[in-house]
Amino acid sequence: MKTIKAERELALDFLRVTEAAAIESAKTMGQGDRKHSDHVAVEAMREVMDTVPMRGRIVIGEGERDEAPMLYIGEEARAEFPEVDIAVDPLEGTNLCALGANNAIAVLAAAERGGLLNAPDIYMDKIVVGPSSRGAVDIDAPVEENLKNIARRLGRDVDDLTVICLDRKRHKKLVDDVRAAGARIRLISDGDLSAGISAAVAGTNIHALMGIGGAPEGVITAAAMKCLNGEIQAKLVYDPARLGVDASKVPSEEQVMKRLNEMGITDPNKIYDTNDLAPGKKIIFAATGVTDGALLRGVRFFGAGKRTHSVVMTTDSKSIRFVDTVHVEGGPDAVIRF
Ligand code: FBP
Repeated sequence: MKTIKAERELALDFLRVTEAAAIESAKTMGQGDRKHSDHVAVEAMREVMDTVPMRGRIVIGEGERDEAPMLYIGEEARAEFPEVDIAVDPLEGTNLCALGANNAIAVLAAAERGGLLNAPDIYMDKIVVGPSSRGAVDIDAPVEENLKNIARRLGRDVDDLTVICLDRKRHKKLVDDVRAAGARIRLISDGDLSAGISAAVAGTNIHALMGIGGAPEGVITAAAMKCLNGEIQAKLVYDPARLGVDASKVPSEEQVMKRLNEMGITDPNKIYDTNDLAPGKKIIFAATGVTDGALLRGVRFFGAGKRTHSVVMTTDSKSIRFVDTVHVEGGPDAVIRF
């Protein structure tokens, strides 16, 4: 991205992109068809993305895991204007949307070329904390030690902390350790990206995200952390024993290594920090609520249109904008409510 002005203008363009994805997927809320919800989000995102004046390259996208043909890694989205790398999750929390549960979002992160890690679609162990606890955690340290350090930074006791974590069998030891340390825990069925963002925003009553989720979500979380002054530390995970699954359910070590090599990752055991995952200097992050969540309201539909709630953040302008948009459709007599 050439100038700050370009970044600001793109931020608003990207807002339109996540709004469109959120609206289309929200229309399918509760229909119980996660693939369809995801598909319409991808299509809407791609359609609006095509109108954005940029030379976009999707570095994290749909395609590998979901076999969605619309947004896939390496695709050139447009042939002029600034060069931008893009990481998308058109519908983060496909099950949440399909079930009408909280915290589904449409999300996009962007940076100058090379500003977002081209991560494989495998699992990633993560710890995410807010600005007060930056530098106080170590993904390799015992859970109790990390919690004590977070509590010290926040000027409270460990039992006043809440850790958010995906409710998965693989997290049994983590959950036991958090409980043994005395902290509270919120187990969520899906959506560790929005959960990580909550951990970095004061007032959400979430003080850390811990545990294994998707690596692509980790990269997008890192982009958000750059804007929110939070921190993520992460490690790729591909060992079926660690994931608590049968080896036939995940790619073999050989397949993973091949994929990592193709992506230029030489050390599979590397500990990634925020800057490794999102090294960009000019980062834009946009997310729109699909269903109601801790930070964002879901899409609301009314006679004269739709209303969306989004957050748009940029590193350069250091602004966090919560955007409440009314998409008017009802013609000249449409009534807009406050
Ligand atoms: P989708 O939006 O693709 O359904 O992913 C939801 C999610 O819960 C992510 O937030 C998380 O990183 C990942 O899935 C965890 O994967 P798994 O469900 O296999 O444990």
